[in-house]
Amino acid sequence: MIQLIMMETYQALSEQAAKIVANQIHQKPNSIIGFATGSTPLGLYETLVTMYQNKEISFSEIQTFNLDEYVGLRPTHPQSYFQFMMQHLFSKVDIKRDQIHFPAGVFANASRACLEFEEQLEQVGSIDLQILGIGENGHIGFNEPADAFTLNTHITGLAERTIQANARFFHDQSEVPRKAITMGIGNIMAAKKILLLADKESKSAALSALFSGTIDPNIPASILQLHPNVVVIVNKKIANYMKHVSNTLEV
Ligand code: PGA
Repeated sequence: MIQLIMMETYQALSEQAAKIVANQIHQKPNSIIGFATGSTPLGLYETLVTMYQNKEISFSEIQTFNLDEYVGLRPTHPQSYFQFMMQHLFSKVDIKRDQIHFPAGVFANASRACLEFEEQLEQVGSIDLQILGIGENGHIGFNEPADAFTLNTHITGLAERTIQANARFFHDQSEVPRKAITMGIGNIMAAKKILLLADKESKSAALSALFSGTIDPNIPASILQLHPNVVVIVNKKIANYMKHVSNTLEV
């Protein structure tokens, strides 16, 4: 079931998302939260930091699992997703360092690295709330368009469109890593609840696939139609460009 919430502004979208994350943690202080990187959740993370500073929320008991990491970047690399999370959220709140889980970007053995992350996921049971962005091509995590879904944690080549979109974080497009390690579609679908955020108009075609009635591995996010509990929060300006939209709630 997908519930679509439309918000007037990016700030309102971020605050609505923060409410959902905060409710989850209030209801279950030791929640397992799946985090995402990218520009879209920045406002959410900023709002969560403010809530923490105002003593409205504590992250001290949660465990975190990030969706993905660039292959070849150590956690200390400034463009690594680990650093992104440290900079925008983890170092600013009371999350315990040993409760943070990331797939390894640097490893001696690729299948071993994937397996280790799978084992960590298995140990916690399932993610209570998974935060997602969506790529212009419909990717979730780094599950890029393909002829079939990959269920488990895996190493993947980045789509050309993803490399172009992510070049803004690097000095030069040639510096963008060509591979990533990512949770698979099965890992994402195993989360009890999914919160997907989208702010930019460039995401509208991909988002329409969430309401199309068709499941297509060439638009990986379309699989979310089979999940029992998905909340999608979009900026209202996108909604005009989306097709097949129903179940809409304007806040
Ligand atoms: P963005 O990326 O939030 O930077 O737009 C989202 C994604 O590609 O999943």
